[in-house]
Amino acid sequence: MKKIFLVAWVFVSLCMNAQTINSPNGKLKMSFQLTPEGEPVYELLFGGKYVIKKSKLGIELKNHPSFIKGFSVVKIDSSSKDETWEPIWGEVKQIRNNYKELAVTLSNENRNIIIRFRLFDDGLGFRYEFPRQEQLSYFIVSNEVTEFNLTGDHKTFWIPGDFDSNEYFYINCKLSEIDAGIGKEVNEISTRSLPGPTIVQTPLMMKTEEGLYINIHEAALVDYPAMNIVINQSAFSLSTVLVPDAIGNKAYLQTPCKTPWRTIIISDKAVDILASKTILNLNEPSKIENTDWIKPTKYVGIWWPMHVGTATWNYADVGNIKLDQTDWNSLKPNGKHGATTENTKRYIDFAAENGFDGVLVEGWNVGWEDWSGNWKEEVFDFVTPYPDYDVKVLEEYAKSKGVKIIMHHETSASVTNYERRMDEAYRFMKANGYDAVKTGYVGWIIPRGEHHDGQWMVNHYVRVAKTTAQYKIMLDAHEPVRPTGLHRTYPNWLACEAARGNEFNAWSRGNPPEHETILPFTRLMGGPMDYTPGIFQVKLNYYDPNKTECVHTTLVKQLALYVTMYSPLQMAADLPENYERFPDAFQFIKDVAVDWDDTKIISAEPGDYITIARKAKGKDEWYLGAITDENSRDEKVSLNFLDKGKWYVATIYADGKDAHWDRNPMVYEIKSYLVNGNTVLWLSLADGGGAAVGFKPASEKDFESLKKY
Ligand code: NOJ
Ligand code: CA
Repeated sequence: MKKIFLVAWVFVSLCMNAQTINSPNGKLKMSFQLTPEGEPVYELLFGGKYVIKKSKLGIELKNHPSFIKGFSVVKIDSSSKDETWEPIWGEVKQIRNNYKELAVTLSNENRNIIIRFRLFDDGLGFRYEFPRQEQLSYFIVSNEVTEFNLTGDHKTFWIPGDFDSNEYFYINCKLSEIDAGIGKEVNEISTRSLPGPTIVQTPLMMKTEEGLYINIHEAALVDYPAMNIVINQSAFSLSTVLVPDAIGNKAYLQTPCKTPWRTIIISDKAVDILASKTILNLNEPSKIENTDWIKPTKYVGIWWPMHVGTATWNYADVGNIKLDQTDWNSLKPNGKHGATTENTKRYIDFAAENGFDGVLVEGWNVGWEDWSGNWKEEVFDFVTPYPDYDVKVLEEYAKSKGVKIIMHHETSASVTNYERRMDEAYRFMKANGYDAVKTGYVGWIIPRGEHHDGQWMVNHYVRVAKTTAQYKIMLDAHEPVRPTGLHRTYPNWLACEAARGNEFNAWSRGNPPEHETILPFTRLMGGPMDYTPGIFQVKLNYYDPNKTECVHTTLVKQLALYVTMYSPLQMAADLPENYERFPDAFQFIKDVAVDWDDTKIISAEPGDYITIARKAKGKDEWYLGAITDENSRDEKVSLNFLDKGKWYVATIYADGKDAHWDRNPMVYEIKSYLVNGNTVLWLSLADGGGAAVGFKPASEKDFESLKKY
């Protein structure tokens, strides 16, 4: 009798009482509860104040009763973890993974799910898990009802919800003012699938009136579609929109399985959002055992000329090419083909002379004549070079110079074609000395009807990461789904584009000066971006007097981006001949590291400015980048991150007199001083400008020639 009473009491208490956990430092508090209707709900507080009010959790299934209400609690497990791990490469040498966990097993019509919460000092992650069970094996997700009910009309940095592209510039306004219908006007993006005027993408960055920063995204997106967010503009409540497939289904799952983590990163300091490692911590450790072959890489490439229009990817100016019926040697070359043997040798020489690891060559392979916009399945074979590109000669040449050529696999979004051919393509790479590939997915996806961000494509990107790892190939994906920290699990996946990169400045209205102050708070929350910085020739009428485009930047800001825009894969994107015109400024790009032992986010405000200092891996060298939006800015930087009691030479690359991103973008000054940990630098950033500083230990000679700051 006593036992029955106890069980009944436990059952009631599980149904009625909120289960609460506090983050390790106690600042964040999360509660979970079932409503009287048996609906799972959670809420989240920061410093005793609501950040997320009571919000629903659940998944709707097709052809099965849904997992949204009528639940009872089966079991509650709480635990905690505090460990430190070392990333293969990254912004810091060691990462602390410290959280409190609550795992609630719920039952509904004899089927169980687990909702697992992990509460860190800077945020919450939670996901749905479906254990192996008799009553549920195969199922289709038709909707996810996860809500994020906010406390007010927060300032928001957003891009339109879209199932196929994330290459938008950000808009900054209140939640209630968002009009994602603007996506229709961004016609420089070829594949737009806009789900609705109040739907936006993640990472979604917000700031409350009280100055709290909130970032909503996801971690470990595998075997599931990406999450968009629909906003109820009067209630300030957000809920989930999953990217559908061609027939409107969201995910096809089989138990045991789990969803990605939904993440909410919170702080009253913007710098903490940029320093957060919660998304990485929610991803699984590396699945690649031997990682010696994975190397952070700085590269140049045959690339910008095609974007500014002085060279072409294609060899001939013809249309309607059939891969297996074309005699490439008989085609008339257009005389502008970029990827020739000779030109590639010139880039290899330039890379070798200036200490770059790699040379990306785009347009080396046949098929570019009609590659885009034709729904063409057999578009590239990834193994046949154009007649003027000699693979063997270049392999030998690159090897003799100690440089690696980076392979380019533009798939034109014909993904079935790529899947059929990728093993052969990777074998071809290995046989010819390539160990890194840049993939691309420009256009509408084949299989027709699939979206770039749906489950099918999410699985494709992961399959490419796994397969390239088997061949010991490093990966950089352009036009993929936005990253969610999977580079922890597949560290050969060095970077992604998955946002509006520098290339948009070459042929569209471009990226406004504030763009790079927002990207680290949005797109980069999930992982490194191949933004392709380093454009020195800012005005593009240099190439053609009729060209009105320009990069919305000063030259010095392009240097600062190597530090503020984190990536272990960094391109020096401009032409070698432009770097030769400005060898003193180019020195910073040659010096700056791509892998780091430590990172200090010194100051940051989304949409306004970012200043970051990083310590080069295994060296006593620091690099600092400071950028601003369209407004000039004086930045006071205490160098207290330097080794105390030690002198360094600080080489300061500053915007020159009257510098301005539009009126006078390419003026700069370079000065060197002796500094130490007590020095405070005053950096003056022009409108749309920046500052970059390199710090190296001072020698005795430096004391003779340089002044103290
Ligand atoms: C778009 C990519 O972002 C760009 O880097 C590439 O050059 C073109 N596609 C062609 O593949
Ligand atoms: Ca792109």
